[in-house]
Amino acid sequence: MTSAPASSGSVTAQRTGPLKGVISVPGDKSISHRALIFGALATGNTRITGLLEGEDVLRTADAMRNLGARVTRDTDGCWQVTGNGVGALAEPDRVLDMGNSGTAARLLMGLVASCPFTTFFSGDASLHRRPMARVSLPLEEMGARITSRSNGRFPLAITGRQLMPIDYELPVASAQVKSALLLAALDTAGLTRITEPRPTRDHTENMLRHFGAKVTVTEQRDGSRVIELAGQQELRAADIIVPGDPSSAAFVVVAATILPGSDVTLTNVGLNPLRDGLFETLIEMGADIEVTNIREQAGEKVGDLRVKSSVLSGIEVPPERAPSMIDEYPVLFVAAAFAKGKTVLRGLRELRVKESDRLATMATGLRACGVTLEELEDGLIIESDGAAPAGGAYVETLLDHRIAMSFLVMGLAAESSVTVDDGRVMETSFPGFVSLLRGLGGKFSNGSPA
Ligand code: S3P
Repeated sequence: MTSAPASSGSVTAQRTGPLKGVISVPGDKSISHRALIFGALATGNTRITGLLEGEDVLRTADAMRNLGARVTRDTDGCWQVTGNGVGALAEPDRVLDMGNSGTAARLLMGLVASCPFTTFFSGDASLHRRPMARVSLPLEEMGARITSRSNGRFPLAITGRQLMPIDYELPVASAQVKSALLLAALDTAGLTRITEPRPTRDHTENMLRHFGAKVTVTEQRDGSRVIELAGQQELRAADIIVPGDPSSAAFVVVAATILPGSDVTLTNVGLNPLRDGLFETLIEMGADIEVTNIREQAGEKVGDLRVKSSVLSGIEVPPERAPSMIDEYPVLFVAAAFAKGKTVLRGLRELRVKESDRLATMATGLRACGVTLEELEDGLIIESDGAAPAGGAYVETLLDHRIAMSFLVMGLAAESSVTVDDGRVMETSFPGFVSLLRGLGGKFSNGSPA
């Protein structure tokens, strides 16, 4: 993994001076998917400002069109979605190709489970490896008929019908599974009740309320949450402003933290308390992150972040914080490689079933960059003397956008440049990543260094 051929999509990041400037990152991926889906279920016209125009979200836009909604983009970059109401979707006349997107795949599986027709789903090689039984099993319990490859994997077909409400305890803390079941419950008579072992991102609940539905959330003494939704409520179109994605901001925040002399402001970042675990963790490690201008937009907390470089120390990251930063671990591992001491990150078995096995992919790439670490079944222990790692690696991204961006951040601050084999995967969640960081002073080139 240390030397390899240049491929057409490879990108190299090299050691850079301080990052400086003011930027805003693209729209939140989770909220963007949901804005398109709820817009298509509501009666009337929903206008979406700041939609993430990444490949994952464009798959959802396309799917909603195939399910009968009108979805258009204005010349000013706003999106318009016109739906016909809950229960009014149309049978798609082709396979819904979800590309690389687990969120699109799982949410739409829930959505079509109550529709009286058959929907066929497929995706890319990464999506075809991911576990879908976590969604199929409760949907089948509700009455949907699902035919899939072994272990419930994609491609699969769902024949929907009038479902029965369910009282379901999620075996894993997953916002995608919770959201799939809430979408299935929307057109199901009766009360659906979902218990999540730990709170996960609540964008679906927030958006249900934003579109006029009543949803009840109860915190339990043991830290679990119960979400209750009575089916067959009407949704009314409601405009949405999508905040910047904290999961995309994460890469810039870590880069500015580990590059000495940096001073970067990120405006309009989503700060939903169930998504801000990375910022909390970095601050505990010694990062200098100031949050200002806190406000609320379409039911979501938003603010600006000013990040100055700082010296980090290793810590033990509380495993129960994982759901609030689940997508940020790859770049947190990079930050840990610059933190003096030992950083212990556990409770992360879910990382093994993301776009790639993120524990294995990150461990391999970090080792190739000269980082000392131990890979555990459910996490990593990373040790550093606080100096920049050697870098100088060629890293395979395995169709995983966050692996690509994490190692490019590593390359900006490591002793020698780091090349990722395929930079095109970044289009799924963060179009313009390289040019945005170039604007702050980051140094990148296409291909491997000569
Ligand atoms: C998401 C939930 C998380 C996260 C994913 C987006 C969502 O997945 O990793 O990128 O929008 O609901 P899980 O539900 O599998 O934890």
